[in-house]
Amino acid sequence: MKIDGVAWRSIQVADDARTVIIIDQTCLPHRFVTTTLTTLDDAAHAIRTMQVRGAPLIGATAAYGMALAMWRDASDKAMNEAARTLLDTRPTAVNLRWAVERVLARLTPLDRNAREDEAYALAAEICDEDAAICEAIGEHGLAILKGHHEETGRPVQVMTHCNAGWLATVDWGTALAPVYKAHDAGVPVHVWVSETRPRNQGASLTAWELARHGVPHTLVVDNAAGHLMRTGRVDMTITGADRVTASGDVCNKIGTYLKALAAHRHGLPFYAALPSPTIDWRLMDGDAIPIEERGGGEVTTVTGCAADGTIGPVAIAPETTMPENPAFDVTPAELVTGLITERGLCDASAGSLAGLFTDQA
Ligand code: MRU
Repeated sequence: MKIDGVAWRSIQVADDARTVIIIDQTCLPHRFVTTTLTTLDDAAHAIRTMQVRGAPLIGATAAYGMALAMWRDASDKAMNEAARTLLDTRPTAVNLRWAVERVLARLTPLDRNAREDEAYALAAEICDEDAAICEAIGEHGLAILKGHHEETGRPVQVMTHCNAGWLATVDWGTALAPVYKAHDAGVPVHVWVSETRPRNQGASLTAWELARHGVPHTLVVDNAAGHLMRTGRVDMTITGADRVTASGDVCNKIGTYLKALAAHRHGLPFYAALPSPTIDWRLMDGDAIPIEERGGGEVTTVTGCAADGTIGPVAIAPETTMPENPAFDVTPAELVTGLITERGLCDASAGSLAGLFTDQA
């Protein structure tokens, strides 16, 4: 996607062909800052501290983390330790495991002298694939938005949650790819951006992205979603996903389930947009997905930019209050109208998913 006319990917190799440039998402929307990853630990740190986040981008960063490790030491021991370090960074997005296992499968049989180049080639392949997959998700989602606009003659009102735009992937995004495609194709679309407490990825990242692309959008607090749906101001909800079971249960940012419940109550479509590496073919039950528990400080404080330009947290609760901070929730397949994948739209069911991905299921 473009920032001030310049094409960007959320992760890219530097001119030295070894170090890796990321956008530090913890500084957005206040400052656009890039950071260079030079070691495995840099990559693990970037994922753990959410300088990079979003399931597909976590996977891409992990692939480059493996490459950075191989650059220093391509022994079996270093390779397996690197995999363990990366797998320990965040538990919920399955793209992380998918990417690390893919790299290990490719590198393990190779002579150690061949591993470094192969790891960089594979990380680049994973990134190119992700960009192409997300663009295809955009095309399939475009058909849904276009169809709705043709039916009503009005701008399509899309509710989204968290950030499933290009910052969460290598390019295009998942939930936002159809929005970008529609906007570019002249289909009028307006996005309701829910702020997404506690880390506010909606307010800080989705609103920023949509503004850069010129897509009309409005920021609302998370609690406004039900009201907006009940009063007829939302046509459909599209979210991303961090892990989807083989049966179609959708795990996504905390608060997604409430949106799906409200959409169901009001007969509004609820779609999850996801690339196939987000499908966990080993799980049939969403309750088996590990839900990341994050620090309570994210609940008792809000991070923002003060008038003097300082970015930092501000306390919003009594010091003695006990917080709890589950970062994701699971929306059961029965509440999901459809899954928008790179191969098209399918029902959130084991049969439909397996039918679309016969080669992977
Ligand atoms: O904690 P994050 O910011 O990594 O979580 C990301 C999400 O939950 C997004 O909503 C998204 O749908 C998954 S990535 C496209």
